[in-house]
Amino acid sequence: KDEPLVLGIETSCDETGVGIVRGYDLLADAVASSVDQHARFGGVVPEVASRAHLEAMVPTVHRALADAGVALTDVDAIAVTAGPGLAGALLVGVAAAKAYALALGKPLYGVNHLAAHVAVDTLEHGPLPEPAIAMLVSGGHSSLLMVDDLTGDVEALGATIDDAAGEAFDKVARVLGLPFPGGPPIDKAAREGDPAAIAFPRGLTGPRDFAEHRFDYSFSGLKTAVARWVETRQRNGEPVPVADVAASFQEAVADVLTAKAIDACQQRGVETLLIGGGVAANSRLRSLAADRCEKAGIQLRVPRPKLCTDNGAMVAALGSRLVAAGVAPSPLDLPADSSLPV
Ligand code: KG4
Ligand code: ZN
Repeated sequence: KDEPLVLGIETSCDETGVGIVRGYDLLADAVASSVDQHARFGGVVPEVASRAHLEAMVPTVHRALADAGVALTDVDAIAVTAGPGLAGALLVGVAAAKAYALALGKPLYGVNHLAAHVAVDTLEHGPLPEPAIAMLVSGGHSSLLMVDDLTGDVEALGATIDDAAGEAFDKVARVLGLPFPGGPPIDKAAREGDPAAIAFPRGLTGPRDFAEHRFDYSFSGLKTAVARWVETRQRNGEPVPVADVAASFQEAVADVLTAKAIDACQQRGVETLLIGGGVAANSRLRSLAADRCEKAGIQLRVPRPKLCTDNGAMVAALGSRLVAAGVAPSPLDLPADSSLPV
């Protein structure tokens, strides 16, 4: 027992995550999700998520401790997502983290959710080569980050100006009559479809977008284009080729995401691209990113799907890096900040 034992708490959206990490080693990754409670609404309902966090918090901490085979009193530091995310959901995690830190007399580290998505990769692939570009794509965010130093210097290069990539998957799935969350069923349906069947728009890739929105994303126009295309079919009494629509939509998303991420690497002279967030589980995004990175001589790092979606291990991973770097802990009046910048 040389390196500190860090317990991380994540409650920014609909997953109550508690992770335990020692150094770069993942000891436990307990996640309780309220996703089933949101399914009939087609999206996460903040109040429902907050209530679910409240109920799941303590049991999930105990499950993580049991999985790691450690006692609460063995924990050396508590890390928690301080933002960005749903305000009420964040509050539950931050309050719990403060209570544990205070009761144990151990330091508290408030961390940024996006930086934590990046840090989680170290649990699978070891220290992150810096600088790196990180593309984070989930139901709540779609950002390109320049990571000079994971424990301090992370810069937002761009983000979605409307819907997150995962949100687009969820909305398109709804239009196609597929269940929520929409990413997995679209990914599956797309395997039987032709990605070139329908030319859906690539948002913010025009020559005029280059100046102002080179590293920003937009998925709302794409979502609307898919909905219009499907409605037109239905109005004409024609069958909707679900597999072709799914494949063509997925291709448009993967194309823009990877093109801009690689452009960012090249513009900044960065040789490592990391992809995280729930949408990083997408099979086409993974294969296209792998192809294009190889051609561009960029090293691609994508954590396994369980680590890509929201979890407590990512928070513990970043906490572990902060402790190792000697970064000062957060004050015990640490606020939850729903729009916390990186
Ligand atoms: O990171 P995450 O679990 O939670 C947050 O939103 O923060 O991401 C969930 C999102 C959902 O929108 C879901 O549809 C999407 O990730 N997703 C996928 C896939 N698996 C999950 N999107 C595309 N392809 C997938 N295979
Ligand atoms: Zn996330």
